[in-house]
Amino acid sequence: MIPIAKLLIGEEEKHAVLEVLSSGMLAQGPKVRAFEEAFADMCGVQYAIATSSGTTALHVALLAHGIGPGDEVITTPFTFIASANSILYVRARPVFVDINPVTFNIDPAQIEAAITLQTKAIIPVHLFGLSCDMEPIMALAQAHGLVVIEDACQAHGAEYHGKRAGSFGTGCFSLYPTKNITSAEGGMITTDDEVIAERCQVTRQHGMRRRYYHDELGFNFRMTDVHAAIGLAQLQKLERFNEARIANGRFLNEHLAGVITPTAPEGYRHVFHQYTVRVTGGRRDAVLEGLREKGIGTGVYYPVPVHQQRVYVDQEYEGTFPEAERAATEVLSLPVHPALSSADMETIVVAVNELCG
Ligand SMILES: Cc1ncc(COP(=O)(O)O)c(C=O)c1O
Repeated sequence: MIPIAKLLIGEEEKHAVLEVLSSGMLAQGPKVRAFEEAFADMCGVQYAIATSSGTTALHVALLAHGIGPGDEVITTPFTFIASANSILYVRARPVFVDINPVTFNIDPAQIEAAITLQTKAIIPVHLFGLSCDMEPIMALAQAHGLVVIEDACQAHGAEYHGKRAGSFGTGCFSLYPTKNITSAEGGMITTDDEVIAERCQVTRQHGMRRRYYHDELGFNFRMTDVHAAIGLAQLQKLERFNEARIANGRFLNEHLAGVITPTAPEGYRHVFHQYTVRVTGGRRDAVLEGLREKGIGTGVYYPVPVHQQRVYVDQEYEGTFPEAERAATEVLSLPVHPALSSADMETIVVAVNELCG
């Protein structure tokens, strides 16, 4: 079986973890600080704040920006549930805007119509490793005084006209094992804003500025030094991993037939967290089954858009989003990870072309 994702843990990660275990200090400490500094450098920002997951990174970022009850936050319905759930956690209201069918990302041309007096923030999600079209999004945010919290959970090292995903507004990353790099579980918030950075640090640690003095309601969303040791070792490999993903994505784009392959607009660096094709004509599930029989792992990200998930339907989140709904029936992700050999790549191409070409 060629898996859809493969964990690449080497001697560096193992050694780094053993070093922390031997140090006797496992909780958030010097490794977390070193990981934060290195991550901020990677992203091209001044501050990075580590958290326990991508979900808690989004939750903390929303709180740090003062988003709360009565506020509306614009985001995409075609994403992992956590992008929208984080808005519910702070008792604000998600407002969905449909996607651009070519990029699968929120369509900036449709955002303005969704802005109301209650709108406080936009959460663009850089899905599959491709940045959203950030120039119009930042312009809209500026014109309407809105906060931008980028869900960059799938976009470590992705670029938009030379600028890294997560460096436009407040960035939120996931370090879950299937991501382009991992810390086992973990998250990271990136920002150039000193005040936001400080609020994030305080919220992740029980609202505590001085030991056992709690100024506000906070959480335990800390990362441990064990996780940071893995993350730091992985971060050193990010460029190599991303280059391998990009080369695999290019190969698939050049050789696949009968499916609509992903395109990165001019000036974008797509880091292929997922390599997602469209299979049209109602054939997606048959192709998925055929590939499974041929020993090729696939994924459907995502089979149900957020507004159609039970938890959202029951809360009456209005609106239909035809492109998100169509994408959910057509998308199919193929293996693109750095552990694939050229023989694997050939096998994937032959199998897809036999079924679709
Ligand atoms: C787009 C998106 N947002 C948020 C998350 C949440 O990250 P985590 O699983 O680390 O909580 C993920 C992770 O799968 C994601 O893909």
